[in-house]
Amino acid sequence: MHDHLLSLPKSDLHRHLEGAVRPATIADICRDRGVPLPTYDPDELAKIVQLSGQVADLGEFLIPFRTIKMCFTDREAIARIAFEAVEDAHLDNVSYVELRFSPEFMAFYYKLALTDVMDGIVEGIETAARRYPGTTAKMIVSISRDLSEETMRMPWPTPIELARLALDYADRGVVGLDIAGRERGYPPELFIDPFRICREAGLGITAHAGEDAGPESVRGAIESLGATRIGHGVRVVRDPEVVALVRDRGVYLELCPTSNVLTRAVESLESHPVRYLYDAGVPITINTDDPTVCNVTLTHEYELLMERFGFTPGEIGGLVAASEVAAFGRD
Ligand code: HPA
Ligand code: ZN
Repeated sequence: MHDHLLSLPKSDLHRHLEGAVRPATIADICRDRGVPLPTYDPDELAKIVQLSGQVADLGEFLIPFRTIKMCFTDREAIARIAFEAVEDAHLDNVSYVELRFSPEFMAFYYKLALTDVMDGIVEGIETAARRYPGTTAKMIVSISRDLSEETMRMPWPTPIELARLALDYADRGVVGLDIAGRERGYPPELFIDPFRICREAGLGITAHAGEDAGPESVRGAIESLGATRIGHGVRVVRDPEVVALVRDRGVYLELCPTSNVLTRAVESLESHPVRYLYDAGVPITINTDDPTVCNVTLTHEYELLMERFGFTPGEIGGLVAASEVAAFGRD
């Protein structure tokens, strides 16, 4: 079954570029630039940037990104990272991937211009498109909802500025806007204006919701931001009215089974509502979230569905097709 799922052309709609950097590349870039790391041994570094098991909450899940950010040193490094992310998608037969990233998170540590981050990613994706013409990568700008001038104690771009940045790159591969980062205390309603600007200009709208907070966060993302896709959304099951809202509006949940267990969005894999949501007619897609941090491939996530949730090959085919329909950037 592994070989069948591997060979199937798949789409990943929820993959963070920051969470997709190869450990060996973090080591390489940092060693090259003289950036100190606890170790430059890729296997030892993997133990730091990959979670070994379930953590307390999303905040703890995000700790590896403190190390990962050390490799966003310059535009060239970022281009390499983006290129390799597409190469890794290609190696897993992911023929369409939406890479999401937080430009301000990738820029802040080395005080890069936001345009250096954007241009580096565009360059990496364009190089990969020439090398792997069967693999298409698009970009989603993810505003870090919990990072701001107040929380970071340094000059920081506003959500509106980030929305405009996303629009500036709509002709170079940006197809959507997202909010990510710690969800509790940072509800969707804080981001109405940036999402309106992007929605009115035709960008796709998704938002992390119902991962670390409850169903009200999913309702807010749909009703206040106009989200047609929801990052994770697994906690909708706590409110049948929100399950019905998602189903009736045809909003796609971007489920990431392994990540959902690691972040404790669900208590265990056994209690993951993927089968329940599917059977209830809620539109779902299957994704990786952070291939490095979660140590997964998209093939592996589909394998879980078959082996642990009894999805048939026909049902898997339907889910793969659903991801193609839900994509923001397929021409
Ligand atoms: N949720 C919120 N922020 C993130 C995630 C996630 O799953 N992965 C990387 N940043
Ligand atoms: Zn995510």
